[in-house]
Amino acid sequence: MAREQEAQGAQVSEAQIAVHWREEEYYHPPARFIGQANAADPAIFERFSEEHFPECFKEYADLLTWDAYWHTTLDASKPPFWKWFVGGRLNASYNCVDRHLATSRNKAALIWVPEPETEDTQAITYQELYKRVNEFAALLRGLGRVKVGDRMTFHLPMVPELPVSMLACARLGVIHSEVFGGFSGAACGDRIADSGSRILVTMDGYCRNGELIDHKAKADQAVAAARERGVEVEKVLVWRRHPGRYASKSPMVAGRDFFVDELLKDYRGQEVKPVSMPAEAPLFLMYTSGTTARPKGCQHSTGGYLAYVAGTSKYYQDIHPEDTYWCFADIGWITGHSYIVYGPLALGTTSVMYEGAPTYPDPGRPWRIAERLGVNIFHTAPTTIRMLRKLGPDEPKKYDYHFKHMTTVGEPIEPDVWRWYHSVVGKGEAVIVDTWWQTENGGFLGSTLPALKPMKPGSCGPGVLGIYPVIYDENRNVVEAGSGRAGNICIRNPWPGIFQTIWGQPERFVQIYYEKYCRDKDSKDWRDWPYLAGDGAVQAADGYFRILGRIDDVINVAGHRLGTKELESASITVEEIAEAAAVPVMDELRGRAVEMYVSLKPGLAPSKDIEDKVAKAIEAQIGKIARPKNVWIVPDMPKTRSGKIMRRVIAGISNFADVGDTTTLSNPEVVEGIRHHVQGEKLSRGQVPRELSPQEMEEIKAFGRAE
Ligand code: WT7
Repeated sequence: MAREQEAQGAQVSEAQIAVHWREEEYYHPPARFIGQANAADPAIFERFSEEHFPECFKEYADLLTWDAYWHTTLDASKPPFWKWFVGGRLNASYNCVDRHLATSRNKAALIWVPEPETEDTQAITYQELYKRVNEFAALLRGLGRVKVGDRMTFHLPMVPELPVSMLACARLGVIHSEVFGGFSGAACGDRIADSGSRILVTMDGYCRNGELIDHKAKADQAVAAARERGVEVEKVLVWRRHPGRYASKSPMVAGRDFFVDELLKDYRGQEVKPVSMPAEAPLFLMYTSGTTARPKGCQHSTGGYLAYVAGTSKYYQDIHPEDTYWCFADIGWITGHSYIVYGPLALGTTSVMYEGAPTYPDPGRPWRIAERLGVNIFHTAPTTIRMLRKLGPDEPKKYDYHFKHMTTVGEPIEPDVWRWYHSVVGKGEAVIVDTWWQTENGGFLGSTLPALKPMKPGSCGPGVLGIYPVIYDENRNVVEAGSGRAGNICIRNPWPGIFQTIWGQPERFVQIYYEKYCRDKDSKDWRDWPYLAGDGAVQAADGYFRILGRIDDVINVAGHRLGTKELESASITVEEIAEAAAVPVMDELRGRAVEMYVSLKPGLAPSKDIEDKVAKAIEAQIGKIARPKNVWIVPDMPKTRSGKIMRRVIAGISNFADVGDTTTLSNPEVVEGIRHHVQGEKLSRGQVPRELSPQEMEEIKAFGRAE
């Protein structure tokens, strides 16, 4: 009933996000998967029930080797600055490397696949990783400038030198801060300055889409940008993609820049004792959302974080010692930190990393890698899945690989895309976990336990073990499961993987994540401090959550708040459509109207007919109120290097407003073409723009969370 009312646009409060999803069918995990799963006994739900919180997380901490065992599981005395496993000491590098030597010295820790198929795959055993990490740690120590608690910035691509550098820092108690390799030098410089790093670790070049990209040039821009903000980088350490052969045109600066392969010669065979760190010592910073405001350096802990990623890797990724696990993401994102490096290596897994673009040299590439290496656990994001579906819908069938388990992460997945992932990529044999979480969270928040809960396309599932989510409306009332109403999803309790603070901005940390629903600022009880994730969500009667996207990304049409994802999902049910993005456009009558941007599957030509089908699908699945003002068929969407569509850029075009900084796009060249087409067409349709107020301009600029 509530749902029908909303569909008619009646009785919808300003704050409420409309929900029009239809319920999807369950898919059940194959018996073969259940028979071997790490979590196959439902008693696990009881062990992690609220009644056993916080002690339940001892089970995760016990996956690690501690130099000193902790005395207090959770110290919640200074909310919301939670402390986990207090009194405990450990070293993350020891836990991910040294302790596996006794049983798995000759097992591959990392299998690195370079982008060019002519280059050999590298299998790096735990022994080899141990050597590389120790030598690089010895080199860093030898510079004489690093001490426990210092920050060090990396600007590294997807090469084994990245996990080696991370683990070397962890060994020394130095806080690493990896900036995604695809980011600009300026973005890197901002993050260097924010964290106060004196050393930058980079690489001369890397392979992407068939090119050897000059990466070192960005280091010079980064150093200059940091200097402008008052931070002087003293040393730039340059790994070489092909040792001995410099791939960049940028000159080395004497006294500042050093080739790591040359320096390493002096450290051959040297060992560095892992520094025993308090559980609460920061392990790394991971920056998020940096284009409009000061970037947020999410500070992650050593003990709590490592325990959380080890535990969730075991139960949700279902990693066993003999599995070949491939998380097809970039280590420059939290996904890669948690689920390529720290979680899998803490468990002694073989973790596959791939250097290049998903469709290089053709869209069969991922499946060739899977076939060749015998990958049986596959982990990636909807954007990659959509791209592979668009460019090679039948490719998986040509390769003989078999996944037992697949993950989707990073944004809501459209049920149609989910079904392709399940039936074509997974060949109907694999379980899928849709894992909802954020850079701030360290590890998964919402997902199904793969052997114990059925899958439901488009829903992440319930809260994961030890996580108790709740949906609140704007008036702090609980939005009940099954009500069909959406609201703000929050987590009622602290958990070991939660970030400790925003580096250097503790007030902002409290304000963004806790202020809205804190019941009493003086309370020392964690129950009064729900964590606000910033996502809109709806909970079905079965307890599964469906994430509707960022709260700031709703489009308010005549007081009817529409989630972008819903509009995009409806568009993608049209057969010809490969990708869709919804943006708001200022509208005299309705405040905002919806405008859709879509791209077509290969070989199809744009037509008025396809535009109409998209508009009709939205009208049918969501309602008249959502009918788009225009549907624009574009050859490609502006995307970040991680593949997220940059909605603010197309929102800028639709509103004849500034598109803002486009330097972090992977394809900035598409912007002008889209602008020309869309704005020209709008003018000829008599949609003459009016000037935006400063507030409206801000709204457009902030639309979409992607950097
Ligand atoms: C935002 C966090 C989690 C690491 C990668 C992204 C969205 C993430 C899902 C999912 C629906 C999802 C949320 C969240 N998101 N995973 N499975 N289903 N939405 O990390 O860049 O910090 O982004 O991504 O909106 O808040 P991030």
